[in-house]
Amino acid sequence: MPTHGKLRLGVNIDHVATLRNARGSEWPDPLRAALLAEAAGADGITAHLREDRRHIRDADIVALKAGIGIPLNFECAATDEMQSIVLATRPHAVCLVPEKRTERTTEGGLDVAGDADRLRDFITPLREAGARVSMFIGHDPRQIEASAAIGAAVVELHTGHYSDLHAEGREAETRAELEALIRGAQLAHSLGLEVHAGHGLTYANVAPIAAIPQVKELNIGHFLIGEAVFIGLGAAIEEMRRRMDAARA
Ligand code: PXP
Repeated sequence: MPTHGKLRLGVNIDHVATLRNARGSEWPDPLRAALLAEAAGADGITAHLREDRRHIRDADIVALKAGIGIPLNFECAATDEMQSIVLATRPHAVCLVPEKRTERTTEGGLDVAGDADRLRDFITPLREAGARVSMFIGHDPRQIEASAAIGAAVVELHTGHYSDLHAEGREAETRAELEALIRGAQLAHSLGLEVHAGHGLTYANVAPIAAIPQVKELNIGHFLIGEAVFIGLGAAIEEMRRRMDAARA
């Protein structure tokens, strides 16, 4: 059977920090989780420094950058404060996400088409500093084309809606959303963008996304940290990796 190249797994460790912050203590330590993830075969570590610091904090980003041996994918909103932190930290990759204080998680994709001039200016110094810049967007062709036009290297397609439909057992709508993601991945690839995907992925729904040949990386967090409570983080990552590889084959 042909393979489409190894699919990378970025492990998002935000919710280790959520657990730590719930008690205002020093543990569990996100760096320790990142090192465990690395040992279990993660290809990168993803962390989202939110404006309200509800999970990851500035010191975590510094510790992660210094402590891990795999690429750090720094997720943030396109604000001046975050731009300064990126330029000081120099992560391997930066994924720009929309952020609302009231949301529980990143709800929708970034409106690149509606904010193209500002985002082009925003990412220019990041690109010059050597970061691979990614836009977290929906599968709307306008957003994909705008991401290519402003000079992003990567788009991360938001799989949250697909994951919600899948969890609700709405099969026809899940299929339609998957097909839109597949078309989005094809368009992005044809425009020279590297394609990533993530949000809401679980053992149960990962295979069809992992099977999209243009997708090179998945970023997965909440499910893995939750599963780690029961079977340990290393085992959870290994099982996710197994399912991704099986879907890819
Ligand atoms: N990718 C991006 C851009 C995200 O914002 C998130 C959530 O922080 C994820 C991936 C991971 O989503 P989840 O925690 O649902 O696996």
